[in-house]
Amino acid sequence: MLPATMEWKDGALWLLDQRALPCETKYIECRSAEDVALAIENMTVRGAPAIGAAAAYGLALAARAGDFQSAAARLAATRPTAVNLFWAIERMKRRWQADKDNDDVISLLEKEAVLIHEEDIKINREIGRNGALLLPERCAVITHCNAGALATAGYGTALGVFRAAAEAGKKIKIYADETRPRMQGGSLTAYELMSDGFDVTVITDSTAAFLMAREKIDAVVTGADRVAMNGDAANKIGTYSLAIAAARHGVPFYIAAPLSTFDTGCASGADIPIEERDGDELRMIGKVRLMPAGVKVWNPSFDVTPAELIAGIITERGVIRPPYAENTAKIFSGKEDHK
Ligand code: MRU
Repeated sequence: MLPATMEWKDGALWLLDQRALPCETKYIECRSAEDVALAIENMTVRGAPAIGAAAAYGLALAARAGDFQSAAARLAATRPTAVNLFWAIERMKRRWQADKDNDDVISLLEKEAVLIHEEDIKINREIGRNGALLLPERCAVITHCNAGALATAGYGTALGVFRAAAEAGKKIKIYADETRPRMQGGSLTAYELMSDGFDVTVITDSTAAFLMAREKIDAVVTGADRVAMNGDAANKIGTYSLAIAAARHGVPFYIAAPLSTFDTGCASGADIPIEERDGDELRMIGKVRLMPAGVKVWNPSFDVTPAELIAGIITERGVIRPPYAENTAKIFSGKEDHK
């Protein structure tokens, strides 16, 4: 059985150490906001909704220590692209502002973090239900990175769509891009799907186009770290080339993401900050050097898929279809529910 991504128990946040998977299942104990910030930076916990939920617990710990505001700034500086992090911090800040003079502020902030955690699982199930309707009874799909239970509070977004399809009795064959350079597809998605008994095959990222040329692929479904209001979507590096390959082969490319992944402050993908990570993620595998020491490397952790390549964005409120600028605006002004 798949271990939980995170647990709040005994007044601490226990994070599944995703760096150790699939070889070892161990948890890291976080007793302060700083512990949580380090765990986000070093990718003990990763995936947009999971980072958001972990940060919310970090702020509950900060309230107990009496350093809420500095902790909020510290957590906001951990990783720049996944907007769920900032969404969760803002939600916790609103709770803190409303209750900071209340004797129960600590337990109220703990409750808010638990609520964010529980709501995320519920939302993922709704995304799954809406997305499963897009898949035929028997299908083959491709996904990239890990947008599963491990990347969220539970159930997953893209992998939640596959879970819901399987729960509805559909026969689904899943290809997982290994996802250079950190291998979230090979290490996490393959592990997560095998734990749940799915038919999963790992391919290199560069195999996806050839796979679409050789075999009927019914859909590509990935998660997102931030969606702009025109539908451009940032996700793990390699998603954009997967979307281009899908367009070339007439395969519908879907993003599965909660509304908390939309950034009303970003008009287009050009406004999305893209994290760049250490070049040693490419130069080395573990302690083994693959490239000349000091060779120049460009290592953006995310890319932006233009809206025109996206057939639909699967959310808890239904599937948003083009024209995205118009339809996302309707959702965020509450005029349309897109069911
Ligand atoms: O660098 P990571 O592992 O945090 O990147 C994760 C992704 O890109 C996921 O696809 C995204 O966060 C969606 S998770 C539901």
